[in-house]
Amino acid sequence: MFFRKKSKEEVSFDKERIPRHIGIIMDGNGRWAKRRGLPRSAGHKAGAETLKKIVEYCESIGVESITAYAFSTENWSRPKEEVDALMDLLYDYLANADKNLAGRNSVIRVVGNIAGLPERIREKVGYAEAISKDKTGLILNLAVNYGGREEITNATKVLAKKVQAGELHPEEITEESLSKLMYTAHVPDPDIIIRPSGELRLSNFMLWQAAYSEFWYSDVNWPDFSPRDIDRMIADYQKRDRRFGGHK
Ligand code: IPE
Ligand code: IPE
Ligand code: MG
Repeated sequence: MFFRKKSKEEVSFDKERIPRHIGIIMDGNGRWAKRRGLPRSAGHKAGAETLKKIVEYCESIGVESITAYAFSTENWSRPKEEVDALMDLLYDYLANADKNLAGRNSVIRVVGNIAGLPERIREKVGYAEAISKDKTGLILNLAVNYGGREEITNATKVLAKKVQAGELHPEEITEESLSKLMYTAHVPDPDIIIRPSGELRLSNFMLWQAAYSEFWYSDVNWPDFSPRDIDRMIADYQKRDRRFGGHK
């Protein structure tokens, strides 16, 4: 068995140039559990705890929003037992929103195809969002039953219906009108998307919004991810030169 030795190196970053919106592909829960001889569900449980800690830390350093990929439109293809365990965890996360947010100003939103979630979860989505209503701090978008392609397809359908109803001319369709129909329209595009667990792919995450996002990868499995890793990511982010297609 191999466990990574924690490095003690100093990590420093400029507190004035924190990414506003961070996308997190919370990956590696299964491998984390397997290494410990635990069921995959134990990895997901540990991953949910990590998310709470990371959100709290990010809020303390001034991050404005996080979109955390919790369940993809493709994850339904996993064994029923695992899907059920993930839905139970989501239910608990949302049902305990008052406790999770107690004394904190952060907001929970669920982004994704909510209509495709079981009724009991949909009810808790409404509850968690209602609890967050008057909060003005960090916005945590939990991406559940989320797929970038589904999101773009859904936006396209909305616009097609408007065209069909004679309310919109096809020439009036712009990047902006599509952006406004993305599930994350209430936050700016992510400045950086991070993926722990060593995988180097997007897996259908924020395809539209990622156009000019920076990417950052880590070998650490999500349940072991710590505020120190966030510091490392921000330090790296601040060394990047974001050109947005322009020149200097
Ligand atoms: C991420 O962990 C959580 C979800 C995708 C729901 P995984 O379950 O994908 O963990 P690995 O990739 O098998 O280690
Ligand atoms: C992406 O992870 C989805 C989430 C983290 C929720 P996966 O583990 O499902 O992605 P692949 O299958 O490795 O691409
Ligand atoms: Mg995975």
